[in-house]
Amino acid sequence: MKISSRHIGKILIDDIYSVSGNLLLKKGTILTQKHVESLQKHNYSFDHTLLIEQPTHHSNDYFEHVKTIYQNSVNAFRTVFLKLEKEKLPPIEEINQLLAPLVDRFFEDPVFISYIQQVKNHDNSTYTHSLNVGLYASLIGKILGLDREKIKLLGQMGLFHDVGKLLIDKNILHKPGRLTESEWNEIQKHTTFGYELLRINKSIDPLILQGALLHHERLDGSGYPTRLKHEKIPYFVQILSVADMYDALSSERSYRPKQNLFVTTKILIQEASYNRLNPAIVYPFVRCILSNHIQDMVILNNGQLAEIIFVHADEPHLPIIRIDDHYIDLRKRKDIEIVDFAH
Ligand SMILES: [Fe+2]
Repeated sequence: MKISSRHIGKILIDDIYSVSGNLLLKKGTILTQKHVESLQKHNYSFDHTLLIEQPTHHSNDYFEHVKTIYQNSVNAFRTVFLKLEKEKLPPIEEINQLLAPLVDRFFEDPVFISYIQQVKNHDNSTYTHSLNVGLYASLIGKILGLDREKIKLLGQMGLFHDVGKLLIDKNILHKPGRLTESEWNEIQKHTTFGYELLRINKSIDPLILQGALLHHERLDGSGYPTRLKHEKIPYFVQILSVADMYDALSSERSYRPKQNLFVTTKILIQEASYNRLNPAIVYPFVRCILSNHIQDMVILNNGQLAEIIFVHADEPHLPIIRIDDHYIDLRKRKDIEIVDFAH
């Protein structure tokens, strides 16, 4: 049987190979337009029993379901933030209830995070950013094998880390273009303001306070507000900093558009190599994020198209890629770089 566009969305139940024996698609692949076109190019015919319908959780309905959960959380979180701004009393319980359904999903569904990547808002608002950072911090906790309670705590640290921005002049916070030195000093105060605001709630976990105060500290002492170094920065706050930087880079800013996944992960790896972020946190996170894109088509800096084949644990930003029938390990070809997805 010839492959055609009516097979898009079906799942492959076995590996398929070209006539010359090269692996074309791995078992478990959900066929996309790109896959169908590439199989047509290879003149591929196959047994239709190789394809099955998607289980419901991969369907469009499921995608819409994740989108609804996320949007509801963003809306609920906006209400909580506005209340906090008015009453200045952090509603910890409400926040916990808000985050729990999302974090539970990480345990039940390994592909949940790749859906979040697609549905998340990239706007510049503090509550959207905080929710995203809560999700990424929880995800990192899960990747690092922490237990459910700690993962929830990381989520809360994310949700509250930038709460001090509520007390910063909105004109400075949303100023388009570069900031002056005094404006920048003002913005930096969100760390201490957040700490002071959260401290009013006596039952708050001390790590949530430290998260708000220290999430812009860097391991080499180049951060703010106190230029703490290395082990003086709690491990959970180091996780929070990675999640914060990742979401900040992948969101739009007034002075630049949002950056693609290959740029953001490369910057995180650079930050780890400059000893600003902890490599033991950055590498597993980048590996997880990029592994969600195995079999995706990408554009290289030489203009060629390639497919991501394998993401290494030690250098996840330099995966093995395939161009036609050639496999290239980017660890050995520093002249070749992935610039973006091929859309
Ligand atoms: Fe911040």
